[in-house]
Amino acid sequence: MPRIFSGIQPSGELHVGNYLGAVKNWVALQHGHESFFCIVNYHAITIAFTPDELRRRTRDMAVSLLASGLDPAKAVVFVQSDVPEHTELGWIFNTITPLGELERQVQFKEKSARQEQVMAGILNYPVLQAADILLYLADTVPVGEDQVQHLELSRVVARNWNARFSPDAPYFPEPQPKLTPTRRIAGLDGQAKMSKSIGNTIGLLETPEQVWDKLRPAVTDPARQRKTDAGEPEKCPVIYPLHKAFSPVPVVTEVEAKCRGAGWGCMDCKKVLHTHMMEELTPIRTRAAELHARPKDVDELLHDGARRARLVARETMDTVRARMGLDASQ
Ligand code: AMP
Ligand code: TRP
Repeated sequence: MPRIFSGIQPSGELHVGNYLGAVKNWVALQHGHESFFCIVNYHAITIAFTPDELRRRTRDMAVSLLASGLDPAKAVVFVQSDVPEHTELGWIFNTITPLGELERQVQFKEKSARQEQVMAGILNYPVLQAADILLYLADTVPVGEDQVQHLELSRVVARNWNARFSPDAPYFPEPQPKLTPTRRIAGLDGQAKMSKSIGNTIGLLETPEQVWDKLRPAVTDPARQRKTDAGEPEKCPVIYPLHKAFSPVPVVTEVEAKCRGAGWGCMDCKKVLHTHMMEELTPIRTRAAELHARPKDVDELLHDGARRARLVARETMDTVRARMGLDASQ
């Protein structure tokens, strides 16, 4: 079976962007792939955090992932810091990654511009990401569009290591991103991508009332000032893409016609979207509440995930150490 790996930062609960860009795809791909899904808490400590908050967010993310449909019987779901081989391989990869490759990463430039003092972990963030993926020799990485450049870097890392330490037959595969039609969901402001740090998200576990309070003021096609103004679905940055993601095809066709023909006002259109969104999200919210009531079971699932991940991780590290001469005392 082909092997896939993906990671998500423990930001607490999932938002609709994470869900549509990545996690929904993970749920589909866990059938037919050997799958590893990791809550990347070592990545998360590169931005401000408190220990208690990090602990809570890590558990909450596990609950969100399981409630969304990741099945521990099919996929290995685990927390990064439970498998120390990630940081071990990360260090090794730091020694073969040119500084220039890291400095030109768009996410590094954006994140470092927001900080007075830039810590080395922000620069080296994508090297750890390469280690996450390559530790499992995964060649397919289901992610949203914002991760494409990081995966390019992962391929550079794989190539550099192979060239030095496995020149005859490449040991590490060159991982490719696997995108979805919803690879970039805009936030409620209709401008930036949906992102927790910007505060323009719809949480996956929000109540129908909370979701409605967010949809109601969301921007639509600016040409539609009044209900009778005709609009262009393609110019509606939030509601139309969400319809395409959540509503059945005949409803999407109707939305397009009613927007172009000014048959519905934007509020009517948002109500229809709300109904279809909640159809998909309500069962997830219910499952999350059940899982929250059983924290011990969630911890156990994560421990078991880490145990299974480590079996693979150790094997890779044995090979890496042997090829690099890091096994002198063994
Ligand atoms: P993060 O929360 O940054 O760890 O992202 C987890 C996953 O969700 C990654 O695969 C991202 O590419 C994806 N993702 C995050 N925000 C969005 C968005 N607004 N639209 C689509 N995918 C997203
Ligand atoms: N950088 C990714 C994000 O912010 C999270 C991540 C860490 C990841 N390691 C990974 C994603 C490995 C895919 C594969 O979304």
